[in-house]
Amino acid sequence: MEALTRHLHAFVSEVRLTQGEWQRAVDVLTATGAITDERRQEFILWSDTLGVSMLVDALAVERPAGATESTVVGPFWARGAPLRQYGDSIGERRSGDPVRVGGRILGADGAPVAGAAIEVWQNDTNELYSVQDPDAPEGHLRGRFLSDQDGRYAFVGVRPVPYRIPFDGPVGAMLDATGRHPWRPAHIHIAVSAPGYEPLATHVFDAESPYLDSDAVFAVKPSLIRRFEPRRPEEGGAPEGVDGLWYAVDDLDIVLVRAEAE
Ligand code: BEZ
Ligand code: FE
Repeated sequence: MEALTRHLHAFVSEVRLTQGEWQRAVDVLTATGAITDERRQEFILWSDTLGVSMLVDALAVERPAGATESTVVGPFWARGAPLRQYGDSIGERRSGDPVRVGGRILGADGAPVAGAAIEVWQNDTNELYSVQDPDAPEGHLRGRFLSDQDGRYAFVGVRPVPYRIPFDGPVGAMLDATGRHPWRPAHIHIAVSAPGYEPLATHVFDAESPYLDSDAVFAVKPSLIRRFEPRRPEEGGAPEGVDGLWYAVDDLDIVLVRAEAE
């Protein structure tokens, strides 16, 4: 609290905050609270759009070279994603082009991590995550998986599209006022946890997506960008029920860091 107060006073002094600006700040915080509920988290959005989430993440765990890099969790993770089996689709209604994502969960020594809990969530082609979309089934484009004996995991999602973070609230007004756009590049969220390892929240970004160089929440790391390889039905190996063009992100190995002993 001492450091926070010191920096807050320094900020107020530096910008010579007026009483009108002080009132505006109070109004913005009040509006942030008012718009926040179980489905909408405007406070996290402030943290994300001001780069604070990525800074906290960078300070949290030192990841040795070779370990998969982390990035923001964002406001659209929600408890209770359905438990699914290896290779299952996470889609619960028809939507975009299927994409199969898979690889192995490994320790930094290259040993497979069996039984790791893998949680994935992504937006649909209407830009929305199911927690934002009252018309979407609750478990749509969300799932929990366990890695197998060889550390393998796989799931079928849809090719994600770039989307706008919620911009109809106080954060949107800030982006507007500062000449920033609300877009995020296309990505799928993957979070992994396993006993004895640091939990990891990361994304896989589509290499062909716009906004990779201007993510509204500063969360792109080059090591997380992959090509979504197009596959035609006649090439074989399509996921079950897929008879048109689909995409593959194979060999998306995820390397975890051992937890420090307590
Ligand atoms: C997301 O990727 O879901 C996200 C992250 C930060 C802010 C908004 C959305
Ligand atoms: Fe996202």
